[in-house]
Amino acid sequence: MTTAPSTLAIGDRLKTETAELHTQAEKAPLQAAMIQGRLPREAYAAFLGQMLLVHEALDRAVEQASAAHPGVRAVWSDEQKKAALVRQDLAFFGVDPATVKPLPETARVIDLIKSRSKGHPETALGMHYVLEGANNGNQFIARVIGKVYAIQGPDGLRSLDPYGPRQREAWGAWKSALNAQQFTDAERDRIVEGAAAMFQAVIDVSDAVWRSVGKAG
Ligand code: HEM
Repeated sequence: MTTAPSTLAIGDRLKTETAELHTQAEKAPLQAAMIQGRLPREAYAAFLGQMLLVHEALDRAVEQASAAHPGVRAVWSDEQKKAALVRQDLAFFGVDPATVKPLPETARVIDLIKSRSKGHPETALGMHYVLEGANNGNQFIARVIGKVYAIQGPDGLRSLDPYGPRQREAWGAWKSALNAQQFTDAERDRIVEGAAAMFQAVIDVSDAVWRSVGKAG
């Protein structure tokens, strides 16, 4: 017996089918320390450095995917590129991006982004959903760490809160646009698989940074 494909709009399917992974991501020790204001500044900067490498690979992959698939093109814009903002934040924390070396987990994520999106541009979109959606929670994290690290103003927090007061509206508009795109059932499955892989990737990178520096605080 085969299972009938889900009829949920793709954005709703993503939210439902990755809800468990979202809970796991929130509970990752580094993420929990961040939202509770317990993460040392150096550990945050180290996490940001690793995420720079992830965002660089993903920005590139989604850019290429947008050229290959109209459904990706319709929901992708330069405003969503994150690597440049992460680089600005790293400079604020005194880290030269050129000195950031990938941890083994980060190197694996970069390979995963490249290999999974090659030939399947919609997979890159599923991965992008995770990091674009993470802005929802990151906005709260920005408030906490801004307070804990005594950061005045947006410098240092731009990659966590790229839309500022427009966050809710921007996310709602993005999800509506996503839901309006046409994808085959196989593509929809790959979008969800890409999202699940990216959630796991962020958990793995968070845990790797936590093991290397996070516990120090
Ligand atoms: C302490 C950590 C986190 C907190 C407190 C948090 C909190 C939130 C909140 C409040 C929302 C909005 C929910 C809604 O309005 O329906 C959200 C959405 C989301 N978050 Fe998180 N989050 C955290 C970590 C993460 C991480 C690490 C990721 C990615 C790896 C992530 C990915 C997402 C995604 C994709 C959505 C959009 C869900 C949807 O509407 O489709 N979050 N998060």
